[in-house]
Amino acid sequence: MAVLLIALLTFLSTALPAECRLYSNYYAKSCPRFAQIVQDTVTNKQITSPTTAAATLRLFFHDCLHNGCDGSILISSSPFNKAERDADINLSLPGDAFDVVVRAKTALELACPNTVSCADILAVATRDLVTMMGGPYYNVPLGRRDGKSSRASAVEGTLPRPAMPVSQLIQVFGSRGFSVQEMVALSGAHTIGFAHCKEFNSAIYNYSTSLQSDPEYNPRYAAGLRSACADYEKNPTLSVFNDVMTPNKFDNAYFQNLPKGLGLLKSDRALLNDPRTRPFVELYAKDQNSFFQAFARAMEKLSVYGIQTGRKGEIRHRCDEFN
Ligand code: HEM
Repeated sequence: MAVLLIALLTFLSTALPAECRLYSNYYAKSCPRFAQIVQDTVTNKQITSPTTAAATLRLFFHDCLHNGCDGSILISSSPFNKAERDADINLSLPGDAFDVVVRAKTALELACPNTVSCADILAVATRDLVTMMGGPYYNVPLGRRDGKSSRASAVEGTLPRPAMPVSQLIQVFGSRGFSVQEMVALSGAHTIGFAHCKEFNSAIYNYSTSLQSDPEYNPRYAAGLRSACADYEKNPTLSVFNDVMTPNKFDNAYFQNLPKGLGLLKSDRALLNDPRTRPFVELYAKDQNSFFQAFARAMEKLSVYGIQTGRKGEIRHRCDEFN
């Protein structure tokens, strides 16, 4: 009987997908103040640095899509290892996003040492910040462990770039199990935050011999972008809002902007032009509830993508260093 029971337990622990080993109340006994501590930390940080929410959402997306939500993006480079965060595509991730995780981790280590993973902190901080900006609340199951590898060289090609055609974007998401609809819903994250001028400069200056900017842009918007970015070569930090209409609100304006020629990145505009993605853009533009439901479901799915649980990974003492 005992042998049968052990065999059954072994089978279940290997057969269950990793996310089934996550629980909403994972820290209920070991760190009862977990949720409150993360919530207080992100609220204070967002009030003093309002760019934190968008920065953290992008940080989380880049952590998860490359090799799973294991906090590997938080690791700093060492003389022996160029870490994920120093891959060229991650260099524009703002310091505030890393800082909010460090602050929550410091507070949590005081309250319950060696207990809470950096990956869980990043997942919950992101959800809390999205909600603070007016976005939907979603469940974040807990129990992720922190990854033990973080290599810049492995990042290339795993994250989407604005110049990718829609087929390639679909492939980048599809190869991780995300549908076209989920990809469009997740792209609605560009309802908040910024993009640096270098991400779209080729569409606003010397676009072709006869046209200054990409004709997909509303002409007044293109003129505004040209003037905002005029100095971008001298000042590479220049950036503009992703959603020019309601930049500080998590809403469906991103989708409403696209048919008006107000889509900032080439990849944003492409979602309207491709027959595979357009129906979802149109749906989310007219129905914010549908967008919120789809975004919430897709974020919950993203938050368990490729996670490590059980004996895999570790609980880091510091989020920027392996133990
Ligand atoms: C569909 C493919 C996507 C592409 C090509 C893309 C590309 C970009 C680029 C180039 C920027 C500007 C970064 C900068 O200049 O600092 C950006 C910003 C941002 N992205 Fe995406 N992204 C995509 C999907 C997503 C997804 C799925 C999410 C989250 C679920 C996301 C969240 C964000 C956020 C919040 C920002 C603003 C960051 C800030 O203000 O610091 N993106 N994205």
